[in-house]
Order: sequence, then structure tokens, then C-alpha cells
Amino acid sequence: MLAAYAAAAFADDPLSALRVGELEPPPTPEGWVEVTVRASALNHHDVWALRGVGLPADRLPMVLGCDAAGVTAEGRAVVVHAVLTDPGFTGADATFDPRRSLLSERHPGTHASTVRVPAANLVDLPAGLSFVEAACLPTAWLTAYRMLFTSAGVRPGDTVLVQGAGGGVATALVLLGAHAGLRIWVTSRTPEKGERAVALGADRAFALGERLPERVDAVMETVGAATWSHSVNALRPGGTVVISGATSGAEPSSAELTKIFFKPLRVVGSTMGTRDELAALTRMLVHTGVRPVVDRTLPLAEAADGFAAMLAGELFGKVVFEP
Ligand SMILES: NC(=O)c1ccc[n+]([C@@H]2O[C@H](COP(=O)([O-])OP(=O)(O)OC[C@H]3O[C@@H](n4cnc5c(N)ncnc54)[C@H](OP(=O)(O)O)[C@@H]3O)[C@@H](O)[C@H]2O)c1
Repeated sequence: MLAAYAAAAFADDPLSALRVGELEPPPTPEGWVEVTVRASALNHHDVWALRGVGLPADRLPMVLGCDAAGVTAEGRAVVVHAVLTDPGFTGADATFDPRRSLLSERHPGTHASTVRVPAANLVDLPAGLSFVEAACLPTAWLTAYRMLFTSAGVRPGDTVLVQGAGGGVATALVLLGAHAGLRIWVTSRTPEKGERAVALGADRAFALGERLPERVDAVMETVGAATWSHSVNALRPGGTVVISGATSGAEPSSAELTKIFFKPLRVVGSTMGTRDELAALTRMLVHTGVRPVVDRTLPLAEAADGFAAMLAGELFGKVVFEP
């Protein structure tokens, strides 16, 4: 099968660890289903893997990719839920399983012509959503959905600051939040991306670290070290920062502990979402007409171009590969 995979790990030069070529398809474990991939979406997770984060050398080569939409052997159109629980896990929320993994961490991922997943990880693709659109949902969009609607404790009319504007998670936060009646403010490294976020439905855009006209009810944080102090300072007393990523680094110059307890704030970790939340997200898209922002669609054979654009910070929205 054609696949984009990590052949090595280079912390400072992740693109050099990427290969695109033919690999022997792995066997399909009992209870798992083979899906013919029609589209797979790039996430920052794939870049972390090429840097060796969460992907030890003894698992290489590893097919990259968490997200896919495709078709089963029976002709069922599906979206793939990327969270794989340990067989012994019996809880209702897959993200609470300490032994969980994402596709491409222990099992081959989705940037390939076929992928194998447990049957329970399949969600029906609703009519009206294309394979390219659906491929954007399982990681970035599901993470955004859970951050806003499960983790943040906000309600329509509240103001939410999204750190970053152009990313896969950030564009999902803007669109989902605006359609749910939240006033969305964004920050960005570039004014152009801020303007594009406003065109999507954000109320206002600010430069990184800029003083806001008033304090917000919640902050959605995926940037990490570069924005952490701003996030804490931006919150009203009793507000909530939801964190699901740290693209610019996980060690901010200050943890802002005094402000966190004095204001007092809630800091909520959030990661991916459940299969039920993924199904609810697909329904929300059908009901609202909201669709993922796709920066570009590339043949899988040209996957390296998509990785390079993400590393250069050029993207606004998702990169999708078609095998
Ligand atoms: N925990 C989870 O389940 C989960 C799920 C999805 C993603 N994540 C994490 O969330 C992060 C974002 O993922 P993604 O796929 O959306 O990545 P992405 O598409 O590459 O987006 C990167 C985002 O970070 C901002 N950004 C990047 N570097 C920055 C810097 N130095 N200073 C300020 N802003 C910066 C960008 O905003 P501008 O370009 O507008 O400035 C953009 O919004 C990644 O770290 C990823 O690993 C975690």
C-alpha cells in the first residue's frame, strides 16, 4: 500500500524523517476492520511523531496519520475515531484510559491507501459531508468540539479567546464557537490570519499578547509557552483556560501560579474526544452547514509538501491527502 511514514526521528529536522512509498499492509487483527482511505488529514501530531515525540525508535517505520474518512469492504462510508483504548479498559470515556493510544502511535496510521481500526471506532459518514471534509474531524475538530462544549463550561453569549487563528484546531474553534453563539476573539502571529478568522465568524482579532478590551470567560490554549501568560491574564475572575496543546513549547517563562489561585481560575486539560462526541460533531456539521476550512488537498504522494507548509506556519486550516 502507498503510505507516508516515519522512517526515523529527527527532533530538529522532522521532514528528513518522512518517507512516502510502498509498504506491506499489516494484518487486520480480529474484531478490526480494514478501511479504504479516501482522505486523511494532517495534524501537528504527525510533526511531533517525526520529531520522535511519543514514537520511540523500536516502533519505526510507522505509518503516520490519525484522521481518515473512507469506505469499508461492505461499502459503508465512515469516519475513523482515532483513539484506541486498551482491551482491558471498561470506562465510558476513551480519553480517560491511561493506556490509550492514537492511530500512528502503536498501530499504523491513516496516511495510507488502507488503514485497520477496531470496528467500534467507526462512525457513519452522514450524507452531505465529503470524504475530504470528514477527514478533518477526528483530531483537530473533535478536540475543538470537546474543548468548547465539554471542557470549558461556557454558554451562548460568553466570550472565548482562541490563542492562534490559522491552525487546524484554531479554525475549528472559531467556526464551532461562532455557530454556537459564543463571541470568539483570536490572536495570531500574522494580521492576515486574524482577518481570515474574522471572516469565518470571529468577532475580533488581536496580535499575540495584545491587551484585550475586557476580560474573557474562557481561553482555548494550544500554543503553550508563547501565549500562556497572556491566557491567564486575559481571564475574568473565575474564568477557565482549557489547554490541549503546546506547539511553541511546554515550559512557559512563568506558570502564573499566583494569578491562577488568586483570581481564582480553572485550568482544564482536554484531549481528543469520545466516539460519541465525534458522532455528535458530525451531526452538528449537518445541522449548521459548518464545514472545515481546508487550506489545500494534495495527492498522498506529495505529502511532504503539506508537512513543509505546516512547519513553515503557512497554513490556514487543514491539509488533506488523497491516496
Ligand atoms: N491534545 C489533543 O488531543 C490535541 C489534538 C489536536 C491538536 N493538539 C495540539 O494542538 C496544537 C495545534 O495543533 P494543530 O494541528 O491545530 O496545529 P497547526 O495546524 O500547525 O496550528 C498551529 C497553531 O498554533 C499557532 N502557533 C504556532 N506556533 C506559534 C507560536 N510560536 N506562537 C504563536 N502561535 C503559534 C498558530 O497560529 P497562527 O499561525 O495564526 O499564528 C496555529 O493556530 C499542536 O501542538 C497539537 O499537537 C492536541
